Amino acid sequence: MKSIVIKCGGSVMEELDDSFFKSLADLKNRGYQLVFVHGGGPAINKMLELYQVPHEFENGLRKTTPEVMEVAEMVLAGQSNRKLTAMLEKHGFEAFGVNGSDAGLFKGEFLDQEKLGLVGEITSVNQPVLEMFLSEGLVPVITPIAAGENGTKLNINADYAAAAVASAIDAEHCIFVTDVKGIFIDGKLSPHLDTEEIEQHIKDEKITGGMIPKVTSAMKAISKGLNSVMIVSGKDKFYENGSWVGTNVSAKMEVFK
Ligand SMILES: Nc1ncnc2c1ncn2[C@@H]1O[C@H](COP(=O)(O)OP(=O)(O)OP(=O)(O)O)[C@@H](O)[C@H]1O
Ligand SMILES: [Mg+2]
Repeated sequence: MKSIVIKCGGSVMEELDDSFFKSLADLKNRGYQLVFVHGGGPAINKMLELYQVPHEFENGLRKTTPEVMEVAEMVLAGQSNRKLTAMLEKHGFEAFGVNGSDAGLFKGEFLDQEKLGLVGEITSVNQPVLEMFLSEGLVPVITPIAAGENGTKLNINADYAAAAVASAIDAEHCIFVTDVKGIFIDGKLSPHLDTEEIEQHIKDEKITGGMIPKVTSAMKAISKGLNSVMIVSGKDKFYENGSWVGTNVSAKMEVFK
């Protein structure tokens, strides 16, 4: 069965519009199985400030000390996952919230322990567990935490986690739902960008901050065979009658002469 992985950004979780859920229903009616991965950036920042835990980002990735990890898991699993799962239930989906470190759903290793602490990258996705949810008609909602060695928990950027899931289950699409309509270059929404253009825009600093993990994980998934990735807004309708609104990221288009 064809599937779509949807990464729902913490940036937009509080503002998801009814039209967003209509777009999801449209996709479901077209026979797609849906898998969600969620973020929780702003809620984690708020809680870290409340607990007075210092925090910083490097190229859109959160440096993760053990204290930051504890707060991040509390917020992601205890708050963001619960919220998204409940919203999906409210809109008629049978959603099942699960932590990425449960049943080795996500296994991971350190990305750069010295620089980033407990930030990980996913080395494997337990596909049979995911298939089990899907075969029961359930919509998994996954918290982006991976099991490392010896019980270590690793903080995975949710964009990377979604792209890894999309590759693992051979999804037809991976959609990044965020708080902007897509990638803006010089103030204009780009409906389509290929990997070469994206690399250039990162160099020119026209793609920055939280957009960097989105495009780099998109490019990685595309290089592994995923067709294309969409970046869309959760505040608007992003899909209707087979057409998308947002930025489509794809491999470099061949120019035939
Ligand atoms: N060229 C660009 N076009 C659009 N947005 C950009 C661009 N460059 C940087 N951004 C930033 O990327 C942000 C989206 O990434 P961000 O990490 O903040 O949200 P998210 O990934 O949806 O949420 P979370 O990280 O909580 O899961 C936008 O709000 C915008 O500020
Ligand atoms: Mg982000």
